[in-house]
Amino acid sequence: MKGKGIHAIKDLTVKDIERLLDLADEYKAGKVARKNLKGRTVALFFSENSTRTKLSFTLAAEKLGAKVLDLNENSSSIAKGESLIDTAMTISAMGADCLVVRHRESGITRFLQKYVDIPIINAGDGWSEHPSQCLLDLMTIREYKTFPGLKVLIAGDILHSRVARSDSEALKKMGAEVYLTGPKTLLPPKTPKVPWPESLEKTDVLILLRLQKERQEQGLLASLQEYHCFYGLTSDYLEMMPKESLILHPGPVNRGVELADNVLDNPRCKINEQVTNGVFMRMAMLYTAIERRKLVEISA
Ligand code: CP
Repeated sequence: MKGKGIHAIKDLTVKDIERLLDLADEYKAGKVARKNLKGRTVALFFSENSTRTKLSFTLAAEKLGAKVLDLNENSSSIAKGESLIDTAMTISAMGADCLVVRHRESGITRFLQKYVDIPIINAGDGWSEHPSQCLLDLMTIREYKTFPGLKVLIAGDILHSRVARSDSEALKKMGAEVYLTGPKTLLPPKTPKVPWPESLEKTDVLILLRLQKERQEQGLLASLQEYHCFYGLTSDYLEMMPKESLILHPGPVNRGVELADNVLDNPRCKINEQVTNGVFMRMAMLYTAIERRKLVEISA
């Protein structure tokens, strides 16, 4: 793994990704005794709202035996004008062993990493990347499928989605075929788009993206109802997909927008398993970021 911290999927080799997936599987199987973080401290700094990522990094650190420091923008000295660089340096100077950051600025974790020695983990930066979501998506897919030749369709707001960027990069690295679809206004310019719903017939894994309601205010969407009519996954569309296909969604879900309520109850819909796997994948990421030297020795 290149450099300190975990900032972007593009920094990870296939071997790095496989190591993280294997370690997360070990944690899920209950093998935690030797690879723990007892005596370590993990600091969280989230300046954007989060349920899944923040709570699962917290749980992951606690399950590994680490102490957790939780800081947010409004209650920290950032509200008094302290810079993010000084905040990261302060957390490092206190002796934290790792800093997990979610922030609206793309590239912020890599920028902060230049100023501190402790590893920083990207918990979602602007429109750029969401490596922990991506890796838990891969973990969930790998429980049912193998990557080479797997046909993955990512649907929805591709333009603004850090999940789409990280998932596309990682899935292609692992040998999957990645296809994109969504309204033209929500795709990056010149992005090749496959037809919806026709492409569902050949889709092994469908990753639905959260429709960000603010896009409607910006005039990129006529209405959420219209989005659902064109791109919402209904049980009829689910019927078009191969019987063994999987449905993923990073959450939070807009019921009745990206997918119909009854699709959420279908056993092929793995959203709750993604959430469960998120805790184990974040354990693997924390352990790897903090104890990388030890991990290399273990695997050597
Ligand atoms: N998928 C995801 O990042 O969810 P949260 O915003 O709830 O963390």
